[in-house]
Amino acid sequence: MTDKATMIVDKDFQIGEVDKRIYGSFIEHLGRAVYGGIYEADHPQADEQGFRSDVLELVKGLDVPIVRYPGGNFVSGYNWEDGVGPVDQRPKRLELAWRTIEPNWIGFNEFMDWCKKANTDAMMAVNLGTRGIDDARNLIEYSNHKSGSYWSDLRIQHGYKDPHNVKTWCLGNEMDGPWQIGHKTSVEYGRLANETGKAMRWVDPTIELVASGSSFIGMPTFPEWEATVLDLAYDTVDYVSIHQYYGNSQNDTSNFLAQSISMDSYINTVISTCDYVQAKKRGKKKINLSFDEWNVWYHSNAQDKKLDPWQIAPPQLEDVYNHEDALVVGCMLISMLKRADRVKMACIAQLVNVIAPIMTQNGGPAWKQTIYYPYMHASIFGRGTVLVPLVKSPKHDTKDFTDVPYLETVAVHNEEKEEVTIFAVNRNIEEALPFEIDLRSFGAFTVSEHIVLEHEDLKMTNTAEAPNRVTPHTSGNAALADGGKIQATLSKASWNVIRIKLT
Ligand code: AHR
Repeated sequence: MTDKATMIVDKDFQIGEVDKRIYGSFIEHLGRAVYGGIYEADHPQADEQGFRSDVLELVKGLDVPIVRYPGGNFVSGYNWEDGVGPVDQRPKRLELAWRTIEPNWIGFNEFMDWCKKANTDAMMAVNLGTRGIDDARNLIEYSNHKSGSYWSDLRIQHGYKDPHNVKTWCLGNEMDGPWQIGHKTSVEYGRLANETGKAMRWVDPTIELVASGSSFIGMPTFPEWEATVLDLAYDTVDYVSIHQYYGNSQNDTSNFLAQSISMDSYINTVISTCDYVQAKKRGKKKINLSFDEWNVWYHSNAQDKKLDPWQIAPPQLEDVYNHEDALVVGCMLISMLKRADRVKMACIAQLVNVIAPIMTQNGGPAWKQTIYYPYMHASIFGRGTVLVPLVKSPKHDTKDFTDVPYLETVAVHNEEKEEVTIFAVNRNIEEALPFEIDLRSFGAFTVSEHIVLEHEDLKMTNTAEAPNRVTPHTSGNAALADGGKIQATLSKASWNVIRIKLT
């Protein structure tokens, strides 16, 4: 075993309230996310609308508060009008972002129905690639205006009497990326986002708007992009989005597990940029972050290159996740919690089949990938106030990072439930890590549960045939020790949830 790691938390030293929307997710018209994922009309478990009830159950198990839709790169070429009205009259389109055929069997109204069934809210994105102000203001009128206008009356004619009242709207997607249909410079995008947001707010002043930020930390335009876009759209937007995916294509697990360190600095840099613009504007409004695409993504890259174009719902981006991926997802969740004061929304990308915690077979079962578990634990137990973690941990160097703490951890205090939950990853892939937790200000407490996700084989996956090879157990050894501290052993390469009941 390595030297001990320690954490001190005090209930009065707080980072901020967790906005539950940081446990959001994402459904794009891409691969089998929609067709074969949330929807499969002839599946034995399809409901009356064709939504897979087995998938809905797994989604509900995650308690997902918000789901971004309909893209992603897809939205930058999408005509939302294609997806409303009688299904048999909807056009099939060439979908240029992913080079598929989009049949439009599911569109905005059906997605809103699905959200109700999944107990979640929608985060809608508008097309600022091929389209702009006019379509965005029409869509929000269709969605949120009660009645008595062309687009609101059309919604009613389509069978939706009540407005959908979608509150959160993304102004385009990854507009900084040359791969995006209608890619723009920061000035072109900043102006368009501002003007589009203004018009949308004139239709519905209660909405929240998310400006499109950098596609990943390595973008050559980062963070100048955020500075320019916010300079042009500060008065109109409430959030700036950022995206990040990690991968282990070099098969260097220690380096892979350390990558969330760069997520910490990514988040901190974007917060500084938001604050710089606020200061420059002498503004009152704080711009917060919507980390609305994040995950591990690399397993499916080679396979995707072999797919023929122009199919309906081909198996694109179907990463099969292993145990080490779940640890990285755990570290990424901890990174966001550590800035819960400013990261107010986030979406694991995506939810079903496409780089997703839930997988399905067409006509077959649905199951939980390894990454389902840290995401579920954080969503279920990680609500409340994040406490400042004073952490000491043994460290190591990896190929790209120095002084990487073996321990990645954060504590969340749920006052209402009288609980403290500690999330912890042991990045050491060789040895267990002794962990001591000092909850000095909390009075009396007991350890109610120590959940552990571990596996001897870091590459182990869950599949349709073997869906439970990587699952958590509750035999972790966290316990109250002499001196009132909690002592635990974190198994090598493990994700841990230590639940403490305040008494
Ligand atoms: O989530 C998959 C894709 O990743 C999204 O469409 C795009 O926004 C990002 O590049």
